[in-house]
Amino acid sequence: MKTNALAPRLPVFAAPMFLVSGPELVLAACRAGIVGAFPTPNTRTPEQLEDWMRQITQGLAQLRDEQPADTLGAWCANLVTHRSNARLPEDLKLVQKYRPPVVVTALGSPKPAVEVVHSYGGLVFADVTSPTLARKAVEAGVDGLACICSGAGGHTGSISPFAFVSAVREFFDGTIVLGGGISDGWGLAGALACGADYVYMGTRFVATRESMAQQAYKQMLVDSTLEDLVVSAAITGTPASWLRPSLLANGIDPDDVSSPAPTRNYNSLENPAKRWAQLWAAGQGVGAIHAVEPVGAVVDRIEQEFHAARTHLSRCTPGAGPVNPDDNPLLGSWTLLAWEIDYGDGRPPVHPFGEGATGLIVYSSDGYMSAAISRADRAPLEGASVRQAPVAQRLGAFESHFHYAGRYRLEGAGASLRVVHEVQQALNPNFVGSQQQRHVHISADGVLTLSASEAVPGQASPRQHRLRWRRATA
Ligand SMILES: Cc1cc2nc3c(=O)[nH]c(=O)nc-3n(C[C@H](O)[C@H](O)[C@H](O)COP(=O)(O)O)c2cc1C
Repeated sequence: MKTNALAPRLPVFAAPMFLVSGPELVLAACRAGIVGAFPTPNTRTPEQLEDWMRQITQGLAQLRDEQPADTLGAWCANLVTHRSNARLPEDLKLVQKYRPPVVVTALGSPKPAVEVVHSYGGLVFADVTSPTLARKAVEAGVDGLACICSGAGGHTGSISPFAFVSAVREFFDGTIVLGGGISDGWGLAGALACGADYVYMGTRFVATRESMAQQAYKQMLVDSTLEDLVVSAAITGTPASWLRPSLLANGIDPDDVSSPAPTRNYNSLENPAKRWAQLWAAGQGVGAIHAVEPVGAVVDRIEQEFHAARTHLSRCTPGAGPVNPDDNPLLGSWTLLAWEIDYGDGRPPVHPFGEGATGLIVYSSDGYMSAAISRADRAPLEGASVRQAPVAQRLGAFESHFHYAGRYRLEGAGASLRVVHEVQQALNPNFVGSQQQRHVHISADGVLTLSASEAVPGQASPRQHRLRWRRATA
């Protein structure tokens, strides 16, 4: 399945993290429209895992009452499939019962998970650090690969993301999730541009209010840069990227971490938590973290950065420059939230096409726009063709729909940013040739408001049209 259906807002996984990701972080990620993942070894017993899965599925059911279901991200369980994990069969039983839409396997063959997860229609992705492991996972029947590259937090990879995706695309056209050092919307755009479908962001979500990480760990991430990291296999037996100050605080010399590697052991029935509780991991995207914030605020910023990156990309692409050399926050597709007219005389706003009006406005990078709005209760025509429909119905169809298209340009900046629609095509022929100017405002939560004043004959003050939009989701 090559679709962003798992993450309707942005193709991002809040990656599974030992001792960091719990139900609160998972639900906050899903609420923000990205995938929320957690590793099952974060629960000490199968009973606790069941409790978490119940909390997540019930929490999601509640969120579906609060916001449209198609704005919620999917949840994801991360299973350690290494042969030393004696709890795997019990975890798989709970996976079968609670049906996470995605399961990511790590540190072992994905085989044990594939049959179980496919039986209920879920997807299995395998966490891999080399094309050889990727090929084995594909042979085992996975739907996707989480390709972990150099710069990742926790157990890191060593391959460049560009080379890794290219190598994997030689033999796999399923879903690729790219991870390692990606902490902002710029990195997200880069990952998608090189052929990935989603990104894994781990480190970025440690320093959120909803993560289970200790406060001092969160603060260390805020205070650190990518030059404060040490990669060593000495701590867990597998190369991992650690924060130097946390090694120092535990009496470990970050410049001499060559002590013999312990034997790998990923048995969730035992307790490997001590090392991870004291020694704190981070990826190379750590420098993008400047505060401990709620997940929603982090995702808002990643979205803004992502759109700025897309504008930058089109500006750097010969022959496909955007309309305006400045950043173009309108680029892309937006769906209508509301069309209101305010008369400025104390009356409540009027909805000319009803409160449930639907609409789509699209701004292309080559300078064209198209806008269409329909009444919610638009009646269908009787008869197979427009010509066979009674005249009154045709008139009704005309009056319940609005469309125009043409070139557009941006003027002004900041609070005085305006977009001018140069109408070349329109349902109302009198619109053709007109210049429709709208003030542009984008709120912190990403709602685009296009507004315009219109003089009303016989009335002293103009009326104000306000059209509110949010980015269209896949
Ligand atoms: C503190 C921490 C704990 C992690 N624990 C796990 C884990 O239990 N299972 C897993 O598959 N990956 C784990 N990871 C790796 C992440 O899932 C992800 O691959 C990685 O964070 C991506 O790189 P980034 O941190 O640079 O974004 C962990 C990462 C961190 C930072």
